[in-house]
Amino acid sequence: MFEEITDRIRKSNKIVFVTGAGISQESGIPTFRGKDGLWRKYNVMQLATIDAFYENPQLVWEWYNERRENIFTAKPNPGHKAIAELEKYVNVTVLTQNIDGLHKMAGSSNVCELHGSIIRIKCTVCDFNDEIMHEFEKFPPICKCGNILRPDVVWFGEPLPKDVWQKAIIHASQCDMMIIVGTSLVVSPANTLPIYAKQNNAFLIEVNPEKTILTPDMDFSIRNTSAISLPEFVSTFRK
Ligand code: APR
Repeated sequence: MFEEITDRIRKSNKIVFVTGAGISQESGIPTFRGKDGLWRKYNVMQLATIDAFYENPQLVWEWYNERRENIFTAKPNPGHKAIAELEKYVNVTVLTQNIDGLHKMAGSSNVCELHGSIIRIKCTVCDFNDEIMHEFEKFPPICKCGNILRPDVVWFGEPLPKDVWQKAIIHASQCDMMIIVGTSLVVSPANTLPIYAKQNNAFLIEVNPEKTILTPDMDFSIRNTSAISLPEFVSTFRK
């Protein structure tokens, strides 16, 4: 799969992964825009927005609670595990759009969660913020301060956490190889990260069964799933 670029892979000093819902698809978590994606069943723009939340916190919480339950049973797949193993051989950073926590669960130690985490809950008013793995009995859950709690995720119309985005840009601008895995690259600003890497002459690899809008800008594309391709990628270092 990666034979023709083995030398280049082995010579990399800093590899940055930009990952999306596709890398968790083989852990049983639906993507957003795929054929069985969440956007097919729900109007995500009416759920994953700050306005939707304040208009109907109960509905938004019911949707997130269903997604939280799904994520609590999900396990990292060979794609997540391959990225974690890669840390043995080279400097690796993961910039993920996913909120499922599977990269950290697989053992990756340098992960930027660009869109937050569905496991983390925060208060809409005070500074309460904690990882909560249990289910809530009633919605919306209320903070000790008396205000509504919300998932600590980035909704459409909200900015990414400033410190996380700044770190992501620095990593993207300093890598010599960027691997874009399982993302349609339609949501900004995450979809600008490959451009930062390209400006630094990084070698761009796309791992996705489908083409994306940035496929023409890639130096190498693998039309296969991440759970199959990424263990092959890591085996390049083992030989
Ligand atoms: N392995 C690799 N890629 C896959 C796999 C797989 N097993 N299955 C699907 N894909 C690819 C699809 O071809 C698609 O290009 O993963 C991509 C998933 O795209 P989206 O569903 O659009 O997910 P993503 O790009 O992560 O969405 C970005 O949009 O809704 C918001 O905040 C949400 O973080 C999300 C953002």
